Amino acid sequence: MGDGDISRYPLKSRVCTLKWERYVLKLIDQRRLPFKEIYVSCKSAESVARAIKDMVVRGAPAIGVAAGYGIALAALKFKEKNKERFASYINENIKLLSGTRPTAVNLFWALDRMKKVLDSSKGLEVGKIKDRLIEEAIGIEKQDLEINWKIGQNGKKIFEGVNSKIKILTHCNAGALATSGYGTALAVIRSLNAEGKVANVIVDETRPLLQGARLTAWELHQEKIPFFIISDNMAGYFMSKGDVDAVLVGADRIASNGDTANKIGTLSLSILAGHYRIPFYIAAPISTIDIKIESGDNIPIEYRDKKEVREILGKVIIPEFMAVENPAFDVTPADKITAIITENGIIYPPYKKNIGKIFKDKR
Ligand code: MRU
Repeated sequence: MGDGDISRYPLKSRVCTLKWERYVLKLIDQRRLPFKEIYVSCKSAESVARAIKDMVVRGAPAIGVAAGYGIALAALKFKEKNKERFASYINENIKLLSGTRPTAVNLFWALDRMKKVLDSSKGLEVGKIKDRLIEEAIGIEKQDLEINWKIGQNGKKIFEGVNSKIKILTHCNAGALATSGYGTALAVIRSLNAEGKVANVIVDETRPLLQGARLTAWELHQEKIPFFIISDNMAGYFMSKGDVDAVLVGADRIASNGDTANKIGTLSLSILAGHYRIPFYIAAPISTIDIKIESGDNIPIEYRDKKEVREILGKVIIPEFMAVENPAFDVTPADKITAIITENGIIYPPYKKNIGKIFKDKR
């Protein structure tokens, strides 16, 4: 790695989302943060699938990385030598993991990579295929960290001409906890902060599961990046007062025309930002772009257990007889997005053309 690589980043306190230790996947239990730092050990694809579904691990890139390890764990469990049976067993586990959460495309992207390794290893013995699957899962994790570092480096370029410190609003958690480290939207914030350019981060609490108040705030607090938390309905107030220079969020799936699915509430923020002429940025790896999908209308939106809205941290606030809904994501139309920050550079409108160009160059 070169001079500007992530290993040189002085993380004051390294947030460790997942650890692959002696063939066990250890996940920090994000449901318990910031009150308890407990790791959950996964020894099978089933336990990884449960951890993704129940949000022990969450955030688009982190879900993908965990799923890769889920397949590595499945491979390790298989004790026979028959190649055909091994392949169909791995495929069953790919199916199991792909049924956990529908919106974040990184899950399917990572499982696709694992499948490609399986399919291209037909000439090898089961033991060798297992090694290759484990290597691939480790590779996905390492690559994600490097990508996030690049997103941070690219993102800070947007603010190069700005002489004063920047006030940034973010939603949900697109930080180290949502990735294998460093984050996407928080990567940009971290790289700006390293240059002393962050005045303040406004953290949306992000109901119903409070990823902003519990997770983003926890990360920023550990690195002493100045921030304060607001409830989601306060964003317009702070924008109207001139307290937000830019909105910076992550993404779960970006359609080929730039429409972007992210945590519920992102759409309203983008409309508010448009009203107050505040730039609205998405930070995401290229793997979050689903080139096969034409527009946001085709992005599947996850609906989660209504209990998440009825309760706050286990305390019931809405009785059973009252109706609630719980969509976990919404889609921000491309015309509300100022730019998309990726590891390959910054994508500006027109998105259809410029996203298309990236994928053409990749071929
Ligand atoms: O439901 P979650 O917590 O998995 O949703 C996470 C988000 O919406 C993030 O903003 C997104 O995954 C980007 S993470 C780098």
